[in-house]
Parts: sequence; C-alpha cells; structure tokens
Amino acid sequence: MKQIAVIGVGYVGLVTAAAFADLGNKVIALDIDEGKIARLKRGEMPIYEPGLEELVRRNVHAGRLSFTTSYSEALDGTEFAFIAVGTPSGADGEADLRYVEAAAKSIAQNMTAPLIVINKSTVPVGTGDWVADIIAHNQPEPIPFSVVSCPEFLREGSALSDFMNPHRVVLGSTDKEAAEKVAQLHLPLRAPIIVTDLRTAEMIKYASNAFLAAKISFINEIANICEELGADVEEVAVGMGYDPRIGPLFLKAGLGYGGSCFPKDVKALAHMAEEKGRHPQLLHAVMAINADRRTMAVERVREMLGGDLEGKTVGLLGLAFKPNTDDMREAPAIDIAKALIDGGAVVRAYDPIAMDNASKLMPNVTMCADPYALAEGSDALIVVTDWNEFKQLDLERVRDLMKQPVIFDGRNIYDPEQMCRLGFRYRAIGRPSKCAEQQSTETASV
Ligand code: UDX
Repeated sequence: MKQIAVIGVGYVGLVTAAAFADLGNKVIALDIDEGKIARLKRGEMPIYEPGLEELVRRNVHAGRLSFTTSYSEALDGTEFAFIAVGTPSGADGEADLRYVEAAAKSIAQNMTAPLIVINKSTVPVGTGDWVADIIAHNQPEPIPFSVVSCPEFLREGSALSDFMNPHRVVLGSTDKEAAEKVAQLHLPLRAPIIVTDLRTAEMIKYASNAFLAAKISFINEIANICEELGADVEEVAVGMGYDPRIGPLFLKAGLGYGGSCFPKDVKALAHMAEEKGRHPQLLHAVMAINADRRTMAVERVREMLGGDLEGKTVGLLGLAFKPNTDDMREAPAIDIAKALIDGGAVVRAYDPIAMDNASKLMPNVTMCADPYALAEGSDALIVVTDWNEFKQLDLERVRDLMKQPVIFDGRNIYDPEQMCRLGFRYRAIGRPSKCAEQQSTETASV
C-alpha cells in the first residue's frame, strides 16, 4: 500500500484520489476550499459524475480515502503528491497558473521527507521545470524531490472508466527513477506507459486535445459544405471512419465543442506558439469554426421562423456542454440563449441535471419541468445537448403541444424522414431535409 496525497479536489483531483484509493492505496485528498472538504466529509459530491459518489463512499468507509485542508497532514508520510488544481484561462488565452504556484509553494513549505511531485493539471510546456524551481526556492531546508508530469486524459461523464482503462499513461521527468516509481503506481491499469521528458509529456496533452478539437471543427466544416451540396454528413462520417488512418470517433458534427478542456487548451496552445513568434493558423481556424457553430444555430432558427425572432418562444432541449454531466463551462447553450434573447426571443430550457448550474449563468432563461412543458407553446425547439432521454420523446405529443412544429436539431438525434412524416418543420446539421415540399415553403417564407 502506497501513500498518496492529491492536491485539489476538482474533477481530475477527486477522480484521481478515489481511483487510486480503490486500487488499494492510502490517499489523502486536499483542497484549500474548506466548504468543499466539509461537504466531501459528509459524503456530498461537488460535481456530478456517474459512479463517483459510490466509489468515494466505499473507499472512505474502507479507510483508504480521507479529506483535509491541511498540507502538513496530507504530506505526512507520503511518497507521492499529485497536483490536480485548476488552470483557468487568463485574459489572453494563456493558462493561469496561480493555483499551481500556490500548491507548489505549500508543498515546499510542508514536506518533511523526499517526495515525488506529479503534475496532473494541464499546464503550459515548461511548467514542470518551473514547479521544480518554486519548490527548491521555498523549502525551509533542502529535502530531495522530483517532478513528474502525468497528464490526465479522462472525459467528464465517463471519468472513472476512462481513468481505470486509459489508452496510455504518459510520464515525463528528468528523473528516470521517479518516473519508474510513478509507472509502478499505474501498473494495475494495464495500459501502455510512455516515459519521456517533462516538456514532451506536457506537449502530448495539448497536442492530443488540439487534434481532437480539430477533428470536431473539421467535420463541422464538412457539415456546412454538405448542407450546400445535398450530402449527409452523418453518412460521410461513417464512410470516412472505416479508414483506420481516420477512425470513427470524434466525427460527430453538431454545435461544436465546449467544456473545461478543449476551448481552454486550444487557446493556450495557440498562445504558447504566438509567444514564441509562431502563427498557429490551424488552431485559429479550429477556434473560429467552433465559435461559428453557435451563431449558425441561431441563424437557422431565425430562418425557420420566417426571418424574425421578435416575440417568439424558443425552447432549448439540453443545456450542459455534453450529456451525462451538469457542467456548463463553455456550453454552446450559453451563447445560443444570449443571441436568441438579443434577437427578441423568449427563451426557455430543460436539462435533466444542468438546470441548477445553468440558471446562475442565464437568469433570463425560464427553466421547465420536463421536455413536454418546454414544448408547450414554443415556436421552436433547439436540440442543444444529445441526452439519451431526448431521443425517446413522444414526438407527436411534442408536436401537438408546440405553437409551431419547428425543431432545429443541433446534434442530429432525430431521423429527418420521420420528422418530416410527423409534420415537423425540421432541420439538422449537415443533412438534407427529407421534405422537399417543406423546404420550398420555408424558402418562400424567408
Ligand atoms: C476532453 C477530452 O476528451 C479528454 O481526453 C480531456 O482530458 C478533457 O477534454 P471532455 O471535455 O470531458 O474531455 O469531453 P469530450 O467527450 O471529449 O467532448 C468535448 C466536446 O466535444 C463536447 O462539447 C462534445 O459535445 C464535443 N464533441 C465531441 C463533438 O462535438 N463531436 C464529437 O465527435 C465529439
């Protein structure tokens, strides 16, 4: 049994702590937010993540997982300290490292024995070296330590299974012995382990996220072209995906990427390049295409409602940036609601779990009890998040409740032919409308 400290109980930190505890280690998770730690001690989760509450409860009960706000308690007798604090975007897109700096200083001031400091937060290339400097300069007396970069690739909504079944573990360090010890901790995960230098490990995380974001913007650009040329992007993606050089994943056209990672990381990578005098043209195109998705959604609905949003009631089906999470960070719903309201529309919404978080960000949006209450009296609905429960709606009931049967499906969850048969005025992303008649009426009314 190894003893591990995890600094920061946000998404990555809490999952890391609970998962390492479940693998049989003794884990002390620390956060400077006393309220958060108090709630965790009472068994209340600060985030919604399937399976997390049960995993935390089980490991706390078994005595392998505990929570504290005290660095001296967290570091007492520990060999490994994971840094998993937030790295929000600064004003110019650069990563704001103030929490990493504070954690490194506190580690330096409270460590009493040799320590391996492992950085899990997504940090600019070069941060590992900087953390090592901060620790060295803030120790009251020199105690040996090493810094290892171990970027986390988990996704919200499937965080536990992503953590437990990684496609690879990336470790970067100048100290091969320390990297080897961290590799041992990950052996039960049975994943390929790549050991490299600090900067390369940090870059692997940015390059991976930027590539995935580029894949999404690519398919969204293809969707725009499909719309003009009468092709179906869903089938194009399937046809492309069989080529192993392309692969089928992350080719879902829609309203673009949101969340806590892709927007921030693509911006930060571009910023790092620009600081060195480079012009990351592709990264800028990825971001611009993504921003356009949100404007496009509002424009489509405006067209479908005859060119004017004034006084129209528009319902958002889904608010979270993706299904199975209550996370509203960089969610397309925020910009879409704002643009609709600016255009004179009355906006309402329903989301299975993100409405509490969302209402703080969008006070002018009325939250509804369920999708049918949302449909009642609406002039149009926009599918913003592809929650499974929206795929199973009683669409005839939805149609009958709506003031006008207009649906803009921003996630391609419905079958265009069926929607046409049911009498909806329906448009999707990068797919031809199956109702030629409907299309011509629509064009006539614009
Ligand atoms: C992502 C990375 O996948 C993960 O490896 C990293 O550690 C953190 O960032 P996450 O933000 O949780 O994870 O969500 P993910 O499932 O990757 O989706 C990101 C966004 O892209 C969502 O807004 C989703 O709707 C969008 N997306 C994803 C698409 O629009 N199309 C796709 O084909 C895939």
